[in-house]
Parts: sequence; structure tokens; C-alpha cells
Amino acid sequence: MGKSGAGKTSMRSIIFANFVARDTRRLGATMDVEQSHVRLLGNLVLNLWDCGAHDEFMKSYLTSQRAQIFRGVQVLIYVFDVESREWEKDLADFENTVAAMVENSKDANVFCLIHKMDLVNKDQRHQVFSQAINELRQRANTLNITYYATSIWDETLYQAWSAIVYSIIPNVKVLETHLERFCHICGAEEVILFERSTFLVISHTTPGNFNQLIPDNNRFEKVSNMIKQFKLSCLKNQAQFQNMEVRCNSLSAFVDIFTPNTYIMVVVSNPNIQPSATMNNIALARKHFE
Ligand code: GTP
Repeated sequence: MGKSGAGKTSMRSIIFANFVARDTRRLGATMDVEQSHVRLLGNLVLNLWDCGAHDEFMKSYLTSQRAQIFRGVQVLIYVFDVESREWEKDLADFENTVAAMVENSKDANVFCLIHKMDLVNKDQRHQVFSQAINELRQRANTLNITYYATSIWDETLYQAWSAIVYSIIPNVKVLETHLERFCHICGAEEVILFERSTFLVISHTTPGNFNQLIPDNNRFEKVSNMIKQFKLSCLKNQAQFQNMEVRCNSLSAFVDIFTPNTYIMVVVSNPNIQPSATMNNIALARKHFE
């Protein structure tokens, strides 16, 4: 949900329908609610509702369609246009939505995305974001809300959506334990698991002190963004992206199809570990992770 033109359909199209950011300029306004079913990780089906936000639709969601829209929600994603000229109205709509959620789905995870951050000067982004979330916190009632600053033009979109998808994956802790063990067996510094079609980060493990050597907290989302772009370029040329190996100084990163629903990335720094050994370990682990 979120005001008309905030960017809801744009983000949905980039994450789930292989759009690139510039394609979203062609999108028209969403009429009423557009539902889509996205299959993630085999049996997990995401039932995504994109609520078009012209005034009369919003009014109807909060009145006649109230129970239909807000009952049984597992995750609410509320998108704010950071450049909105009607901020007070946006806050009022948000407050009404929060009331409907508390009434119908009080345990849902709520994510507020302060979106189109690319339109704000870099040195003002932190302040603008803090100010916005202060105002939203005052209206959050009892809901458990997580806030992200996002833009379709960089990896922040992947960061927010990876967190959203992570919040609905069952047994994710079990997956993490197995991934950690696999990382150890490979002698790797880091292992990251991506959902196959969206390239969202599902899980990762960095058991040693690699975090201190590469202190970039957004590196997973940057990889998601870059590989997704690369995958789309491959598709344009009617080629299928399957795997790649990237080397930089003493580091090697192997990206490969893993299970039917995931890609894996294994980062190795030990020069004594042969690339073929890592590729072989990935191949041998497939069955276990399926
Ligand atoms: P309704 O369907 O009317 O509810 O609107 P919506 O929230 O779905 O908005 P939509 O995704 O159609 O986006 C409206 C415009 O915002 C499009 O021209 C997008 O290209 C643009 N847009 C979306 N995200 C961003 C962003 O992060 N930065 C910038 N600069 N523009 C964006």
C-alpha cells in the first residue's frame, strides 16, 4: 500500500517481473487491487496484493473492503514517496491503515519503505529518513514496523525486499545452520543463498572475520542487483545465465545454480583451494539442500 505514484508497482515489477528501473516509467496507475502469485522456494507461494491508491480506492479499502483487504495479512509493505507534496495526507492514510491492521492482522510484519531516495541529495538522506521514521513511529500503534530507505535505482530495493522475503520463510534458522556447516566444509569465507528467479538474498553466513576485511554491509544486495542485471542482459541475447567465477586479488567468488529454487555464491580466499574443488563441493551439496 501507499499513495498513488509512490512506486509500488515499479518495485513489484523489478523484483518479480524482470523489469529494469527505466521500464517503470511506462507503468500506468493500478486499478483497484492487482493480485499476483509468486512461487518462491518451491512450495512457498507469495500472494502479493498491489493496492492501487487513487483516493476512491483507498476510501473503499478502509470502509466496504476493510475486512477483505486487511484480514489474514502476513506482511504489509507501506510505500512512501519521499518527495510527496501531500505528506500530511500520506500520514493520515497511513494512520487509518495502521488502525485497520491492528483490528484485523495485529501480528503482521510491517515494512515502511521511504522510497525514491535517489531524489534526495546524498548528504541529506540520513536526516530525511530519520525525520520520516520519527513521524511514522508516532503513528505505528502496536504494530511491529521495520523501516527502509529505498530506490529502484540502486541496491536498497533488494536490501528491503530480501528482508521482507526473509521474514516469511519458514525454518530459515535450520537453513542457516546447514549453510554455515557447508561454508566450513568448503573452507570458504562466506556463502550466500539467493532465490533463483528474483535473486533476493535468502540466507548467508560469514563465520570468520571476513566482515572486517570487507566492511560493506550492502554487499549482498549489490551482488543481487548486479547479477540480476547480468541475467537480464543474458536473456536479451537469448542466453541462459548458469554460473560464473569472479576473481579479484586473492578472492574468488563462485556463483552457480544450486537447488531448483536457489543460486549459491561461495567466496574463497585461500589460494590452496582449487576452483574445481569448490565447484565439486557445490555439486555434491545440492542433494542435501534440496
Ligand atoms: P498507483 O498504481 O497509482 O497506486 O501508483 P504506484 O505506487 O504503483 O506507482 P508506480 O510504480 O506506477 O510509479 C510511479 C512512477 O514513479 C513511475 O514513473 C516510476 O518510474 C517512478 N518511480 C518508482 N520508483 C522510483 C524510485 O525509486 N525513484 C524514482 N526517481 N522514481 C521512481
